[in-house]
Amino acid sequence: MADDLKKGLEGVLVAESELSSIDGDVGRLVYRGYPIEALAEGASYEEVLYLLWHGHLPDERELSSFTEAMVAEREVDDAILETVRRLAEADEEPMAALRTATSMLSATEPEGDANAEDLDASLRKGRRITAKIPTVLAAFERYRQGDEPVDPNPELGLAANFLYMFTGTEPDEIAAETFDQALILHADHGLNASTFTSMVIASTMADVYSAITGGIGALSGPLHGGANQDVMEVLIEIDESDLDPHDWVEQATEEGRRIPGFGHRVYNVKDPRAHILQQRSEELAETGERKWYDITTTIERYLTEEKGLVEKGIAPNVDFYSGSVYYQLGIPIDMYTPIFAMSRAGGWIAHVLEYQDDNRLIRPRARYTGPEDQTFVPLEER
Ligand code: SDX
Repeated sequence: MADDLKKGLEGVLVAESELSSIDGDVGRLVYRGYPIEALAEGASYEEVLYLLWHGHLPDERELSSFTEAMVAEREVDDAILETVRRLAEADEEPMAALRTATSMLSATEPEGDANAEDLDASLRKGRRITAKIPTVLAAFERYRQGDEPVDPNPELGLAANFLYMFTGTEPDEIAAETFDQALILHADHGLNASTFTSMVIASTMADVYSAITGGIGALSGPLHGGANQDVMEVLIEIDESDLDPHDWVEQATEEGRRIPGFGHRVYNVKDPRAHILQQRSEELAETGERKWYDITTTIERYLTEEKGLVEKGIAPNVDFYSGSVYYQLGIPIDMYTPIFAMSRAGGWIAHVLEYQDDNRLIRPRARYTGPEDQTFVPLEER
């Protein structure tokens, strides 16, 4: 029947999950029952990882041993760093470099875990991947700048340590806190395309590295994680044009351009993460360049108030303000989606562990619309 086919699996329920819940009509996101606003305000990314992976917010003792275990896994094998250097010197796209390096990490698994497939081993592998992706990305950027990688600083949390390895200097408190919040906001989001990709791979009982490498591939697309880079490129295009931002976006939409950072498969209203990132972007604008924030809000005002997109259920999503936040933190534009992946690795691993704990191979059907009853003609007669 035509109506049972859901292209893009739109609105199709394929699993039960305790990890995150999205109410697209009111713009609400919770991780294991905690509103994203409370976690962004009061927790660290490490606490959110613990919540997603272990099911409750850690107490002091649990957080300390979890953080210690993550810190101990930050180092990346020299052979992998050598590959990262070659990729950087070959001017490889950062998401492609991350996909390659993440896949290589499996070669440096400790003996005992290498072939272990139990969930505890998968959690240890997930922890290693999540701890090492920041080191891989920072090294890639240092090599691109012609510098040597900066070793991880065990005294710093994951967010601050990434910025330290990435720039070579310890971040100030606002930058560290803003970046930590951004990682929390991007950590999980139900069965988005990249998380579902990881789950499909995990459902064959394949290993965690295969699942996370697949998630990175899915996230790299401009309809998904790649939108934050597109948003910043639009802001720069507007800034470099001689048009007023309002006139630019009016002209762009009249030409039929789809503005990145707007619209979502689930949210019909402004993404709650966009609200939080907008506040952070405005705070950074107060001590930096206002124009990126101002251009972004001008676009939002036009699309919302004059184009009436929000009435059609098309509103700012998480990518709309993350661009101006990362730009004001001095992060290169093509590193925005890799940073999204760095955070979402936590959610991918949580869903892989949860799904494999009550696994069922994911194998949908397609309605065949090709020809029937073809008569075979041998090659010599064709
Ligand atoms: C993320 O799924 C997740 O949870 C993803 C994510 C996460 O945390 O993992 O939230 C992260 O991926 C955010 C989305 C980032 N992508 C973009 O910002 C790219 C721009 N947005 C779109 O291309 C689009 O909105 C999608 C891909 C995000 C959602 O696509 P859908 O659900 O398939 O919707 P659609 O493309 O069919 O659009 C529905 C309508 C269309 O109008 P009609 O043709 O029916 O008249 O909305 C319009 C679209 O034209 N529309 C837009 C628009 N996005 C959709 N119109 C103007 N500008 C836009 N940006």
